[in-house]
Parts: sequence; structure tokens; C-alpha cells
Amino acid sequence: MTTAATVFAATMAFAHSGVANEAVKARMEAMKAIGGATGTIGKMVQGKTDFDAAAAEAAAATIAEKAAMIPALFEAEEMDPESEAKPEIWTNWDDFVAKGSALEMAAKGLDTSSLDAMKAGFGAVGGACADCHKAYRVKK
Ligand code: HEC
Repeated sequence: MTTAATVFAATMAFAHSGVANEAVKARMEAMKAIGGATGTIGKMVQGKTDFDAAAAEAAAATIAEKAAMIPALFEAEEMDPESEAKPEIWTNWDDFVAKGSALEMAAKGLDTSSLDAMKAGFGAVGGACADCHKAYRVKK
């Protein structure tokens, strides 16, 4: 990454400026990146943007990469008034981690070589998000 890009990324990280807790901010930023990448694929699947295999592959890789970081990002039982994390994450830790790796597997298994293949596999990715959010994310 060039210096300018690093500065830009650092600026972007202040989107959650109301969050004082660095650990909470880091996990929210990772989720936001997952959300952005999922949106990229979702728009292609819905025909809102043209299919772009390279962009889809990069987005799937971002989801897999960030999903792999879920255990490390959530390990510390940290809270913040802005956080949407439920305390059950830390009482059901193994299940939470399993749901994170389910997402990683779904993203890694997503075939982005054609729009049809991607459409077929995208439900599993979205399902992995919903599975975890239902149990462990407060909708604010
Ligand atoms: C293993 C559990 C888990 C999985 C899987 C998961 N999430 Fe999350 N997600 C969370 C939790 C917990 C939060 C709340 C974090 C917080 O506020 O501290 C969250 C928050 C978010 C947010 C809000 C981020 C913000 O700006 O504060 C978005 C967007 C999001 N998730 C998108 C997704 C998408 C899209 C997927 C699937 C591709 C996904 N998540 C999969 C647990 C998960």
C-alpha cells in the first residue's frame, strides 16, 4: 500500500468515531468491510451492477480473510455503547467461532467464475451472516 492509500484507509477507519474502545472499533470495521464486499457481490447477483469476475473474486477473498479474523477480533470481551455485539458471544464462544468459520468456508467455496455459479453459491454466504447475526448481533 502506498503512503497516500494508508492515510486514506486510516481516515476511513474513523467512520466509527463515536466508538472509543479500539477493540470494538476494529471488529466493527472488519464487519463493515465484510458488509461492503458482500454488497459488491450482492449487487451483481441482483443485476444492479454488471458481473465482474475479478471484482467478485476480490470481494469473496475479503470476506474469507476478514471472517478468518473473527476469533481474534472478538476474543477480548469488550463492549461499547455503540456496539451491536450480544454478551452471548462470550458465553457461547465455540458456537460463535464455528459460525465465523462457516462464513469463511462459504466465502472460500463461492465460485465467482460466472454469474450463474455465483448466484448459486451466494445464498450460503448470506445464510452464514444471518445465522450469526440472529444469535449474536443486536439490531440497533
Ligand atoms: C460469527 C458471527 C458473524 C458472522 C458470520 C457475520 N457477522 Fe456481521 N456482525 C457480527 C457481530 C457480533 C456484529 C456486531 C459487532 C459490534 O458492533 O461490536 C456484526 C456487525 C456487522 C455489521 C455492522 C458493522 C458496523 O458498521 O458496525 C455489518 C455491516 C455486518 N456485520 C455484516 C455482515 C455480513 C454481510 C456478513 C456475512 C457475509 C456477516 N456480517 C457475518 C457477527 C457476525
